[in-house]
Amino acid sequence: MKYVRMPIEVESPEERGYSTIRYNLAESSVTDRTLGEFNLDLSGAVLAYGDHRGFPALRHEIAEDVGVGEGDVLVTAGAAGALFIIATTLLGPDDHLVVVRPNYATNLETPRAIGCAIDIVDLTFEDSFGLDVERLRAALRPNTRLISLTTPHNPTGVCLDRATLDAAVAVAAEAGCPLLVDETYRDMIYGEKLPLAATLGAHVISVSSVSKSYGIPGVRVGWIVNRDPVLMERFLAAKEQIGICGGLIDEMVAAAAVAARHDWLPALNQRLSAARDAVEAWLKGQDAIEWVKPEGGCVCFPRIKPHLDVDLDLFYRLLDEEYGVAVGPGHWFEMDRRFMRIGFGWPTFDELTRGLEGISAALRRALR
Ligand SMILES: Cc1ncc(COP(=O)(O)O)c(C=O)c1O
Repeated sequence: MKYVRMPIEVESPEERGYSTIRYNLAESSVTDRTLGEFNLDLSGAVLAYGDHRGFPALRHEIAEDVGVGEGDVLVTAGAAGALFIIATTLLGPDDHLVVVRPNYATNLETPRAIGCAIDIVDLTFEDSFGLDVERLRAALRPNTRLISLTTPHNPTGVCLDRATLDAAVAVAAEAGCPLLVDETYRDMIYGEKLPLAATLGAHVISVSSVSKSYGIPGVRVGWIVNRDPVLMERFLAAKEQIGICGGLIDEMVAAAAVAARHDWLPALNQRLSAARDAVEAWLKGQDAIEWVKPEGGCVCFPRIKPHLDVDLDLFYRLLDEEYGVAVGPGHWFEMDRRFMRIGFGWPTFDELTRGLEGISAALRRALR
């Protein structure tokens, strides 16, 4: 494996220090929560190695939520840990991957570290970041071992519709190749919630976590859902070699969060919907910026209109140094820096509004 650090991590708020940012619109999760919110008494927890597949109560909650058996759930160290297990299990240097871009950086970078052949299907603003499944089909090779999609999508918030998801499931089945669907944002949705992709075929692998919609990325708990016992045994072997099992305390907290989903998620989605409305209202007053409206998740990926002459170095410098605003610049996603990811689920409403005003002000000064 040839590891290279990703700009999204090198330049992340955690790395540069949260205290250096006044209006943090760079986050892709909802507001972080405290341990105290869960009212848990963990004093009796026996700190033994845990169940290798994950804390049983957590697997039970996940299985019940998405409509699979508990044996179809493998708990991992965050969705990132799940993606690592899947990539390293299914891909070697002689294999081929088809993956969409832009994407959560790990979905591209771990396969690169493995050294497999990669065909990237680029999603474009002009196509509203929609996926043409025929492009997946056209990219297939005899040694394709994985097709990798993300919905709701990071950084755009665009969602696959049911017909497109079904078509992708069918293309992978015809090719005899597993389909990974990174559904880390699935619980944040403004329209119809699709069935978990893994319920649509034993060759489909779903990934999610408590980091984004539950606001507890610090517990590092995610999971793989898949209905093929042979594949799941291979994923378990990978997990055992990486870390044997997960952290018991982390998984107990995650279990409490997922168990309370019926109270938590509806209120969360209402708050996110209002925040998305605020971004939309701001954009209506912007001549220089355009977006594809997100249908899920808590981020969007607007861009400075391509015909405008803008000094991007100046824009990002002013944004940071004079207006105290952090966003996710396009290069975090291997895209032009005219794009910026705006996270509207993490900041308070006031911080979001002021951050958006900061973007307008910095852009006014950077336009030539
Ligand atoms: C699409 C997607 N998948 C996976 C992850 C990793 O999440 P986790 O914190 O659960 O490891 C992220 C984090 O940004 C993400 O955006």
